Amino acid sequence: MVLSKDNLNFFESNLKDLKRLNLYRYLRIQNEFRDTNSSEDNLPFINFSTNDYLGLSKHENLLNLFSSSHFSSVSQCSSRLISGNTPLFEKLEEILSHHRHTESALIYPTGYMANIGTISCIANNQTTIFSDEFNHASIIDACRLSRAKIEVFLHNDMFDLENKIKKNDAKRKVIVTEGIFSMNGDMARLDVMSELSSKYGCILVVDDAHGDFVIGDKSQTDYGGTASYFKVENEVDVHISSLSKGLGCFGGYVACSDLLRNYLINKSRAFIFTSALPDIFCELAYKAVLLANMGDRQKKLHKNLKYFEEQSKNYTLPGLRFTEDSPIIPLVLGSEEKSLSISDSLLKKGYFVQPIRYPTVKRNEAQLRISISAIHTSKQISGLLSTLDSLLK
Ligand SMILES: Cc1ncc(COP(=O)(O)O)c(C=O)c1O
Repeated sequence: MVLSKDNLNFFESNLKDLKRLNLYRYLRIQNEFRDTNSSEDNLPFINFSTNDYLGLSKHENLLNLFSSSHFSSVSQCSSRLISGNTPLFEKLEEILSHHRHTESALIYPTGYMANIGTISCIANNQTTIFSDEFNHASIIDACRLSRAKIEVFLHNDMFDLENKIKKNDAKRKVIVTEGIFSMNGDMARLDVMSELSSKYGCILVVDDAHGDFVIGDKSQTDYGGTASYFKVENEVDVHISSLSKGLGCFGGYVACSDLLRNYLINKSRAFIFTSALPDIFCELAYKAVLLANMGDRQKKLHKNLKYFEEQSKNYTLPGLRFTEDSPIIPLVLGSEEKSLSISDSLLKKGYFVQPIRYPTVKRNEAQLRISISAIHTSKQISGLLSTLDSLLK
């Protein structure tokens, strides 16, 4: 590759700036990290940065499916509309729509693409989208792609949201939020938001990548995510989620009405113009849903969360931000430099917690994003807390 001097300068100076600001990113090799379910305490790293909240990605039934695979091809090598559709999609979509209490569901290759494909398709230049200021990058990108007017409301501030809706005279209005926020770990006020949505005739879209199958109604028998936590499943018009977090698999999906599903099949470019999710991932996700529906892993996760909270009271960690029942616990440190150095020191002591910096969070609001899984042990959790305490003293 021969780049002109100007082009070289452009890339190099941008990367230099990121380094100067402590915002440079590089890829770590994943098997540096010790499995959360490892029983061998002498192995070097415990992963507290996973989205595998239920530990299903390591479930032996799912791993066995890989090795004993009865699939006749690696991939369908086609989009679903051309020759990539198989009965496994329909089977998975049926169980997911049942899980979400919707008429139907539609699989996308990833959660990122589910957001891009859905939001950019249901909104257009006649629409205003009201988007929480902390929404995930895939939601932000999707909003931009739709060419709608975008009104960003203050994080979880229902007064600001209502004011903005009231003042807006767009023909069509869409409210979009995460369920459990991916970095803050707190929950969208879906109880209020669903009321506002119906009062002002909006479409309510909830991306619950981190709450789906993890939390549910307070009786903890239905893990339908943040919407079921607030008992507003039927008020949410479009549920979006990832298969690679609570379910420990890979892929994304939308749960909605039959009408909307047909609309997406016909209009959603991120659905139409890309290869279908390989069959094996549909089968894996289907099996993962059955395992998740047993509910035992969520109970273990919630026990771990309670244990984390109780143990943390033994230390002074003022940056810790708990949300009851949420598996994401940020430790806000502020400075990017500090977040990098504490994360590095933790890693040396055997705990991997990724520092989260701008643009994922605001400048000078860097944090360590601690995520808890059902397969963490009490010893691992208390070890992390006491190590953090000693590093922050
Ligand atoms: C809120 C949210 N939505 C969507 C995604 C994307 O999901 P996927 O990893 O399946 O592309 C993520 C991933 O981190 C996320 O946090």
